[in-house]
Amino acid sequence: MFMKDITILGIESSCDDTSAAVIKNGLILSNEITTQKVHEEYGGVVPELASRAHQQNIIPVVDVALKKAKISIDDIDGIAFTKGPGLLGSLLVGTSFAKGLALAKNIKLIDVNHLQGHVLAHFVKKHKDDNNQPQFPFLCLLVSGGNTQIIVVKDALEMEVIGETIDDAAGEAFDKCAKVMKLPYPGGPIIDRYAQKGNPLAFTFNKPKIKNLDYSFSGLKTSFLYFLRDRMKENPKFIDENIYDLSASLQKTIVDILMDKLIKAAKETNIKEIAIAGGVSANSGVRNKLEELAQKYQWNIFIPEFQYTTDNAAMIAITGYYKYLKGEFTDQTVTPMARFNI
Ligand code: KG4
Repeated sequence: MFMKDITILGIESSCDDTSAAVIKNGLILSNEITTQKVHEEYGGVVPELASRAHQQNIIPVVDVALKKAKISIDDIDGIAFTKGPGLLGSLLVGTSFAKGLALAKNIKLIDVNHLQGHVLAHFVKKHKDDNNQPQFPFLCLLVSGGNTQIIVVKDALEMEVIGETIDDAAGEAFDKCAKVMKLPYPGGPIIDRYAQKGNPLAFTFNKPKIKNLDYSFSGLKTSFLYFLRDRMKENPKFIDENIYDLSASLQKTIVDILMDKLIKAAKETNIKEIAIAGGVSANSGVRNKLEELAQKYQWNIFIPEFQYTTDNAAMIAITGYYKYLKGEFTDQTVTPMARFNI
């Protein structure tokens, strides 16, 4: 049977990355990301500055994505954009841009849940014969700066959250503890780098005692803060002298907390197809531990390429592609949502 080509333009602007991507029948043609540097000096993302930077970046980013894909806007079948969750001002820029372009060019409009996008990043084909995708049902540990969830993915558009953080996300735990050690934002990748030079058993920190599949990271943050405060009283150079061991021990604690619940979820659901997604899935400790567990429990694991771990429009485009196949479109009345569950 003849199948019409389906080409989707994806637009992502939920936080501090402006991104546009083109996907044709699931195959990636381009994935442009502009990371906003303006937030570095503030120790975190400043929402107002993020919206303004999106406003500046969005047209050039979309333009480059189309050019790199060698696709004209007239060849686009659907425009997929991030509806939420995220910073409202940032989301408004992407949403308004997508609506305007869809209206002007009479193109179908598809609203995408950012979290669903992170999970479906695993389905972006890197080349025509790329069939390395998880089979349904699979478990996805979604770990980012704003979310930590264990999701049962029953189908591309059918997901159930079976565990999630009741306070901070894993990425926040990395970033907040990094801040306590006076490291710049975002501290997660720096802790990862330092951890590779340190002893993960040098120090131990409190782990939460939650019985179900939910997570908590606020206790760890507090215990880390008090531990450092006490040690600094004895030795004001304690952090500088132990930065590698502190990073390695903290990273090990966060990874252990994440993986303990993932093991429990795999046992309870009897699923051995396991994926990770989101910014923290770039962490070397998370990746190494998952590989170790895959051997131990005969899991079939899926670890995203680095460019698909942090926010990117390829994941929005691939989700848009699946929604297009199902005829799930939105219209010009759509508005973004800062909070938006899977
Ligand atoms: O998914 P993401 O780009 O943004 C959203 O939250 O949507 O995730 C960003 C988070 C930040 O907290 C950052 O510190 C963390 O991911 N992160 C890492 C690493 N790379 C990014 N955390 C630990 N190790 C890394 N290598």
